[in-house]
Amino acid sequence: MPPYHNEHILADDAARNALRKLASSCAQFAAAMPDDEEAQGNALQGLIAEAGEQIRTRTLRLADNFAGKDEVIRLYKAPVGAGRLKLQLFPLDEGDTHPPHAHYNLISCQIVLKGRARIREYSLLRRLAGDELEIREEPVRFVEPGDGVYTLQKRNNIHWQEGLEPGTVLLNINWQGFFTDNVMAPDRAVHGRCYIDWERARPAERAGCFIVPEVVGA
Ligand SMILES: [Fe+2]
Repeated sequence: MPPYHNEHILADDAARNALRKLASSCAQFAAAMPDDEEAQGNALQGLIAEAGEQIRTRTLRLADNFAGKDEVIRLYKAPVGAGRLKLQLFPLDEGDTHPPHAHYNLISCQIVLKGRARIREYSLLRRLAGDELEIREEPVRFVEPGDGVYTLQKRNNIHWQEGLEPGTVLLNINWQGFFTDNVMAPDRAVHGRCYIDWERARPAERAGCFIVPEVVGA
C-alpha cells in the first residue's frame, strides 16, 4: 500500500514536505508505542505542540487548498508496527458537529488548521452491563489554529466537536490497532469508534460523571 494519498491537494512542495515530516514523527511514536497512558498523553501533547507551532508559523499548511465542505480527506495512511497510522482533514463548518462517540483500540489527536471549534471531552471510567459507559466530564475546550486535543483509551476517550466558524478544518491523526489488551473494546467499534446516545445520558453518583448508552451497530 503506498503510504501517501491525496498529497497532491497540498499547495506546494513546502507543504508536502511538512506533511512528510509530521507523518514521520507520528510513525516514530507508533513504532515505539508506550503501554502507559501517561506516556502516550505526553507524546501526543508533544506532537500537538510541534504541529501547532508549524501551523501558527504557516510551515504546516495542510488546509490551504481544501475546498471540500463535507468530505473527510485522507492525507496519509500506512501500517506501522502492530497497527496503522492515519492523517486526515476533518471539515467542521460553523454549527456542524461530530456526534458524541467513544474510541476503542484507537488513540488520536485533533489539531485546528483553520477556524475555531468547541470540543467536549469525557474520560471513560468503566464499562457497565447493557452497553453502558460511566464517563467523567472534562473541561470544555475552545480551540483555534495550532491548538489541539487528544483522546486515549481512557482519558478523553469520548468527545464531540462543533465548528464555530465557516470553513473550520481539523487535522485528525489516529493510531489504531496497538491496544489489543483493551478489555473494554467491543467488536462493533467500526473504524475504532462507537456513537453515544446522549439523549439517554443520566447523571452518575459521582459528581461530574454520567452513565451513557452506546449506540449498538452504529
Ligand atoms: Fe473521535
